[in-house]
Amino acid sequence: MKKAALLGCGIVGGGIAIIMNENAAYLEKSAGEPVELKYILELRDCSDQPWADKVVKDFAIIENDPEVSVVAECIGGVGVAYEFVKRALLAGKSVVTCNKQLIAERGLELLEIAKAQKVFLLFEASVGGGIPLLRPLTNCLSANRIESLRGIVNGTTNYILTQMIQCGVSLDAALAEAQKLGYAEANPAADVDGIDALRKICILVDLCFGSNLPPEKVPTEGIRAVTTEDAQFADRMGYAIKLLACAARQDGDRFTAYVAPQFIKTTSLLGNVNGVMNAVSVTGNAVGECLFYGAGAGRMPTASAMVADILDTFRRGNGKKFINWGPERPERFVHPDDVPSRWYVRWSGSCSAPFAAACITEGTHSAAVTEPMLRSALDEMLRGVEILSVFRVCD
Ligand code: HSE
Repeated sequence: MKKAALLGCGIVGGGIAIIMNENAAYLEKSAGEPVELKYILELRDCSDQPWADKVVKDFAIIENDPEVSVVAECIGGVGVAYEFVKRALLAGKSVVTCNKQLIAERGLELLEIAKAQKVFLLFEASVGGGIPLLRPLTNCLSANRIESLRGIVNGTTNYILTQMIQCGVSLDAALAEAQKLGYAEANPAADVDGIDALRKICILVDLCFGSNLPPEKVPTEGIRAVTTEDAQFADRMGYAIKLLACAARQDGDRFTAYVAPQFIKTTSLLGNVNGVMNAVSVTGNAVGECLFYGAGAGRMPTASAMVADILDTFRRGNGKKFINWGPERPERFVHPDDVPSRWYVRWSGSCSAPFAAACITEGTHSAAVTEPMLRSALDEMLRGVEILSVFRVCD
């Protein structure tokens, strides 16, 4: 009998409890023996829940129980979650988590502890929710030098943008709905301001480019600046507006990374990823482009990835392959403003130089998409123009 413990029984934790109960026969087949959820650490009142008999309020009970070989962390944040994950690893237990903040900010340290303890720290659910992504990247694509990553990695903002653009719903109303559906972070500003997507691109960069990328180094913009006027121009020009998290290898061993709302052609695959769905496009030097698509947030998709990680810790045993990356190498990071891009620009007034040829007008506003250029050259070109919005164009 394999035994696991759950830390936190909210939206995702509740999903884990459901899967471990309802899919017990499949789990047993996969693990080779029965799998039991022995404890649930939860401070809230759970007396009316079917799993009430498993609830404990003291982490030390889990930490000191040698029968528990894996702990699933669903608390979130880097406070108590960090402390308990570290203690679990030091107690010789594997840990699985969906906590992207924890992995993006403390992953390097925690992975080293896991390696020293010969246990596993697995976090498939931290990027892309239920989409199989990190394991294919680190296993199936391991023969490649990864050249670029670009993705819609935040379900809440993709849901909001889809609702705003396709149904004319306001940002606040769409966010309230996303919260009701269990997609949003405890503090939804982390979704809307791009912070959640930032943490996810840092994890992808860490895994694919091999050195730690601290989130504070990555230029990040959320979706608050996206307006219905921009959505209308985008539509007329054949673009969708998506919050994209991007990273790409530059000359030598260097790379760039950023998070920003971007114009992307409606004829592209990513341009057609709507609602809560996520998609990540990965280009490897041998395989070419691969697209990973699926439910990026929500109770059951996220729990699906976490339970699979739990099973994986049982299957692997000690001493097999570890996921890992090295310490930060700041000299590798290229600021995205130093990489040419095409830009969408909207301004107050009619079509005029320097955009006269490629520009369209709607009411009192005009908009155009530029040729590839550095941000500094764009700013120089726009001097004296009353600019209303500027977004990158993803080619
Ligand atoms: N708030 C996150 C999202 C949850 O909307 O994508 C999944 O990481």
